[in-house]
Amino acid sequence: MKLFVTGGAGFIGSNFVRYWLKHHPEDHVVNYDLLTYAGNLENLAEIENNPHYTFIKGDIRDPEAVREAMRGANVVVHFAAESHVDRSITDPSGFVTTNVVGTQVLLDAAREHEVQRFHHVSTDEVFGSLELGSEEKFTPHTPYDPRSPYSASKAGSDHLVRAYGETFGLPWTITNCSNNYGPYHFPEKLIPLAITNILEGKSVPVYGDGLNVRDWLYVEDHCRAIEAVLHHGEEEHTYLVGGMSEDISNLDLVKMILELMGADESLITYVKDRPGHDRRYAVDWSTTQADLGWEPSVTLEEGLQQTIDWYREHEDWWRRVKSGSYQDYYTKQYGNE
Ligand code: NAD
Ligand code: TYD
Repeated sequence: MKLFVTGGAGFIGSNFVRYWLKHHPEDHVVNYDLLTYAGNLENLAEIENNPHYTFIKGDIRDPEAVREAMRGANVVVHFAAESHVDRSITDPSGFVTTNVVGTQVLLDAAREHEVQRFHHVSTDEVFGSLELGSEEKFTPHTPYDPRSPYSASKAGSDHLVRAYGETFGLPWTITNCSNNYGPYHFPEKLIPLAITNILEGKSVPVYGDGLNVRDWLYVEDHCRAIEAVLHHGEEEHTYLVGGMSEDISNLDLVKMILELMGADESLITYVKDRPGHDRRYAVDWSTTQADLGWEPSVTLEEGLQQTIDWYREHEDWWRRVKSGSYQDYYTKQYGNE
């Protein structure tokens, strides 16, 4: 099988590419990625010489390049996106062009090449915000109610995927997953920022009152969920993927990280809240469990411990990301083309 993976140099995409080649060494993976600030080929250094792996630098908004690169693919797994809510508040335009237009360009190419499956990786944020303290959770039937430019652009891409299924018969599946964490997570997101700041003896910024709630999913569990959907998922189905059964506030999460790292709570610093900050996300992943036999394999504490261990052992990686020097890797490895 030949997989065309978009955004495979990012956090989740690179975990997925490594996971896939480890568990399906007979398959071929094409990683199509523009290498924005979020793309880091160092994440894939251990497989870059694998003959079953090809990297193509390209933009999902470029129809010609996408059409050419997707040739021969059986399955598309679409991760590429602008993904950071805070950046979508500073400058929404790239979110609309990459997440909406880019997805439409990929869908057109997938139609033309008659791929067997277009799998779209989306987010629970398309469902909006839940009441703090309520028992309510997102299900595959929750109405869309995106509230940030990021989640609105992801919602647009989800609708396009389903529309191409209805209108053109394109075979699709979607996963809406919660907040991922784990190795190779870009350290501007809460968990890797907290871990690396603690390792550097710096404070950990907590937005607002710190009571916002997220569902946390260990990235390898997410990769296993996509694998289960590709192998056993029903076409034209949406699967919710989450990692938790109980709520945890950002503040309690940060306290847990501090405790696991043997650091002091005095490192917590409250900072100005994010505009339109969604209060609570909670994912009901029981139908995914029932339909596919998938469930998270680690508790939050176990996943955090593994993540902390990984950041302790990969100081060079996160220091290069924090300093920006990781962006030299492409030129060193591939020259200036
Ligand atoms: P990321 O920001 O780490 O990586 C995105 C990747 O896409 C990068 O390698 C970047 O270079 C590439 N890219 C961006 N614009 C591109 C373009 N125009 N053409 C080609 N490549 C481009 O993102 P991530 O955290 O790995 O998220 C992957 C997917 O999962 C995204 O679609 C995101 O919406 C979704 N998601 C992420 C989370 C999470 O917690 N990180 C949660 C739910 C859903
Ligand atoms: P983030 O990792 O940016 O993911 P998302 O906004 O997609 O959920 O943020 C996770 C939560 O942590 C979110 O409620 C915002 C909060 N947060 C902080 O409190 N401090 C920080 O420095 C960051 C980056 C996020």
